[in-house]
Amino acid sequence: MAERSRPRRAVDHRHRLRLRRLLVLLPLALLLSQLPALLLRRANSLGRRCLPGAPDRLVRDPRLSLAIVTLADEGASGSRARRSFRGVLAATARNKRAYAAAHGYRLVALPASAVDPRRPPSWSKVLALRAHLRRHHWLFWNDADTLVTNPEIPLERILFSVIGHSDFDDSPDLVLTEDFGGVNAGVFFIRRSKWSERFLDTWWNQTSFVQFSSTKSGDNAALKHLIDHLSAEEMQAHVRIAKMQCLFNSYPWVLTWKSAHRLIFHLPTTWKGAYSDGDFMIHFAGLDDKKGWTNKIVGDIETLR
Ligand SMILES: *[C@@H]1O[C@H](CO)[C@@H](O)[C@H](O)[C@H]1NC(C)=O
Repeated sequence: MAERSRPRRAVDHRHRLRLRRLLVLLPLALLLSQLPALLLRRANSLGRRCLPGAPDRLVRDPRLSLAIVTLADEGASGSRARRSFRGVLAATARNKRAYAAAHGYRLVALPASAVDPRRPPSWSKVLALRAHLRRHHWLFWNDADTLVTNPEIPLERILFSVIGHSDFDDSPDLVLTEDFGGVNAGVFFIRRSKWSERFLDTWWNQTSFVQFSSTKSGDNAALKHLIDHLSAEEMQAHVRIAKMQCLFNSYPWVLTWKSAHRLIFHLPTTWKGAYSDGDFMIHFAGLDDKKGWTNKIVGDIETLR
């Protein structure tokens, strides 16, 4: 007995050591996995600059009419949508209404009847913008899963920071941001002009991109295709892509295999687009629990106030 108990004690000891090491490493690994989210959420206090400092040349022209255009009706998002918008629209519409009222912008909240049933609802932004383009100088399209997180920032300041001046007649027509996949169709500015009218008509005409899947509708792919095929001259004259995605289209960073991969292989893009406190707008692009996210962020904003 005595001879056999010694090796067993050695084995037990080794097991215990391994267990202790695991008990130390496990919390450490958990902590490390949370670190990117913690750091990215503080990107702005760590020195990231989404919006250049307040310009002294920014003059708000009271004659310019700006409108935020968004979808307002629950039914319009499709009841079977996997990434359900249920319960999100009321909260995001309230958020947009308060922001628009504070700055004197119009809010165009589209009813379900504005949705063309022959295509996924997301395509109807093209029709809605086309219909309202003549009534305002600038339209600011917002997908329903977006919230203004820093209402202090006026839209004119965002436009100025991209365009470099506030001369309406001399401005480009389309102001976009870029994420991992290229330009994003969820949040962008479009200016009243003949070029914009034609561009929206051409966009709507990209019928080969229309797709009925739970996560893709094809409108973003069509926009990307059109932008990619503009000549350099046309691009220069009519389109601006913000240097920093976080200027007006920040995505919350959540730990997944995909986001971890992007963090490692596309660090600058992650850095430019991750939502951080102080950003103008959050966009729950690609996230499933939009309602949970909306409630959380609305809560955060109210706490900060
Ligand atoms: C879009 O398609 C319609 C119908 O085919 C056509 O009349 C119109 O000229 C097209 N517009 C553009 C800008 O391509």
